[in-house]
Amino acid sequence: KQRIVSGVQPTGAIHLGNYLGAIKNWIALQNSYDTLFFIVDLHAITLPYDTRQLSKATRNTAAIYLACGVDTSKASVFVQSHVRAHVELMWLLSSATPIGWLNRMIQFKEKSRKAGDENVGVALLTYPVLMASDILLYQSDFVPVGEDQKQHLELSRELAERVNYLYGGRKWKKLGGRGGAIFKVPEPLIPPAGARVMSLSDGLSKMSKSAPSDQSRINLLDPKDVIANKIKRCKTDSFPGLEFDNPERPECNNLLSIYQIISSKTKEEVAQECQDMNWGSFKTLLTDALVDHLHPIQVRYEDIISDPAYLDGVLAEGAEKAAAIADATLNNVYQAMGFLCR
Ligand code: AMP
Ligand code: TRP
Repeated sequence: KQRIVSGVQPTGAIHLGNYLGAIKNWIALQNSYDTLFFIVDLHAITLPYDTRQLSKATRNTAAIYLACGVDTSKASVFVQSHVRAHVELMWLLSSATPIGWLNRMIQFKEKSRKAGDENVGVALLTYPVLMASDILLYQSDFVPVGEDQKQHLELSRELAERVNYLYGGRKWKKLGGRGGAIFKVPEPLIPPAGARVMSLSDGLSKMSKSAPSDQSRINLLDPKDVIANKIKRCKTDSFPGLEFDNPERPECNNLLSIYQIISSKTKEEVAQECQDMNWGSFKTLLTDALVDHLHPIQVRYEDIISDPAYLDGVLAEGAEKAAAIADATLNNVYQAMGFLCR
């Protein structure tokens, strides 16, 4: 079976962008692929954070994965920091990563500009190397993520190729290893719709956990009245009717796209259904569709989060399975890089 890995950071509330861009797509994939889904807690410390919240947020994120339909009889779910190999491989990979590659990362530029100089730690720069380690450790074939991770994925691919070139092939064989490629080169899986869910307050910026106003996003655990209120107050326009793909109507395109995915309709169906609607009726339609879709997830979430022993068991089992795969790759890398192995 081909392998798939992905993860979300346990920072802030998981929102509709995380769900439509990433988590929802994992669910369909777990039937046909060998899947590992992790909670990337080590990534969550790259910006100032609250130590009292990290472990709680990590648990909550795991519970959200399960509530959204990640099936532990098929997928391994684990916490990144529970598998030590992630950090270890990261060090080995960072020796092969040109600083220039990292300086080019758009997300680094954006995040460091927002955070201000004093808050920019080295880890914010080396974050994509840790992400590459998350992926390459498992010899992953595909990585389902939203559009904003495309550049990081490209870096993972380039890094895999560079390490294969520098240390793999005949060189590795001469050291007594199996030779050939050290890492599989992973491909991104970016969904055709939902890869970039936009903010409710501005159709030109993406929905994000870090935007100051909670009105700008729908969180997966928002209760019905909160969802209704956010949709009621979200930004719209004064054009007649509703339509996709009009560059002057980014909010309209975003809300129609959300409705399309959540209601499992085609773009054509939604375009037709909504072309003559006014905002008032569409907002009711969208709110109902969101509430219907999210309610069962929220009920399952409450069940799961109220049983910490069950959740701990899932995470322990996931970490054990993941570590077996990760350690094998890590040992190969040490060998190929010429270390004295134990
Ligand atoms: P993060 O919140 O940065 O941990 O993101 C977790 C996953 O959600 C990644 O696969 C992101 O690409 C995806 N994601 C985050 N924000 C959005 C968004 N606004 N639209 C679509 N996908 C998103
Ligand atoms: N960097 C990703 C994000 O912020 C999260 C992430 C870390 C990830 N490691 C990963 C996603 C490995 C996919 C695979 O969204």
